[in-house]
Amino acid sequence: MNRPRLLTGDRPTGRLHLGHYVGSLANRVRLQDEYECFFLVADYHMLTTRLDHLSEVAGNIKEMVLDWLSVGIDPQRSTVYLQSLVPQVAELHLLFSMLVTTPRLQRLPSLKDTMRDLHITQPSYGLLGYPVLQAADILCVRGELVPVGRDQESHIELTREIARRFNEMFGPVLPEPKALVGDVPTLVGTDGKAKMSKSLGNTINLSDDADTVRAKVSKMYTDPNRLRATDPGTVEGNPVFIYHEAFNDNRDQVEDLKSRYRSGTVGDVEVKRLLAEAINRFLDPFRERRREFAGKPGLVGTLLQEGSARVREETAHTVRDARSAMGLSYDSIFGKGG
Ligand code: TRP
Repeated sequence: MNRPRLLTGDRPTGRLHLGHYVGSLANRVRLQDEYECFFLVADYHMLTTRLDHLSEVAGNIKEMVLDWLSVGIDPQRSTVYLQSLVPQVAELHLLFSMLVTTPRLQRLPSLKDTMRDLHITQPSYGLLGYPVLQAADILCVRGELVPVGRDQESHIELTREIARRFNEMFGPVLPEPKALVGDVPTLVGTDGKAKMSKSLGNTINLSDDADTVRAKVSKMYTDPNRLRATDPGTVEGNPVFIYHEAFNDNRDQVEDLKSRYRSGTVGDVEVKRLLAEAINRFLDPFRERRREFAGKPGLVGTLLQEGSARVREETAHTVRDARSAMGLSYDSIFGKGG
């Protein structure tokens, strides 16, 4: 039986963190049996904003693939590949770029956010086309389900529009993929800011060791109005308790801490100590697997090479079908075999 296809990926910007895990990685790991999965390392997407940081990309690719493997992405069942090793993606990107208007791309909130955050006044042609390249990633393997964070939903909507437009104009070649957004709300940062994010420096990374986790948790933002352990504290919206809910497998302990916090009978130090323990329990199996994979020299490179070869084959079919639907196969000039 053919499983439906799932495709998603990340830009190699650095270490993945708990926010990535709850927002997207957990879904990927869970869906590996039900779907035929493709996970891409989006290094071409790095060129849209990081031209001055490209020397970091190679190291980031390796660590990110190790992050994926550590959480349970299984290269026996799923295809892991590097975007820039699949040149057909660029070809599809060019074809798709004719099917989208520039105002449609300029309206995307993600573009505005990126320009604001990076102080870009005029986007390059490539940055504007970021979501078109993403559509090429998804449609090149005819992905049907795309697990992403909430901030990427608008890109999947655009991908659907491109597929629809293509099919209407040239015939049914491309599936319209669906986004799958994690059921957990965006994870707050350790500083209490709305989002855990590398650029805000408020992350707990999947590759952090136990001492790093303890140090980060002990500095976490908590109820600012609570000065002493005997003051009644607020649990709702308190990042320390949001993390307890998300990562502590000892539910009785969480309920007990919540009620003692509310009544002012437990100190922040104890709440945080137990949280650090819980997060370390949560991360331990990841650390174990990471050690195993990292101990095999050349493993990441081999996986990416093999995965990319497989995707090149798939993508060559999609490009061939797209070109022929568009009348770009030129059989009349070259003959059927040409
Ligand atoms: N834009 C995604 C991000 O920044 C990464 C990405 C690139 C992606 N191509 C993709 C995600 C295709 C899903 C599908 O997170």
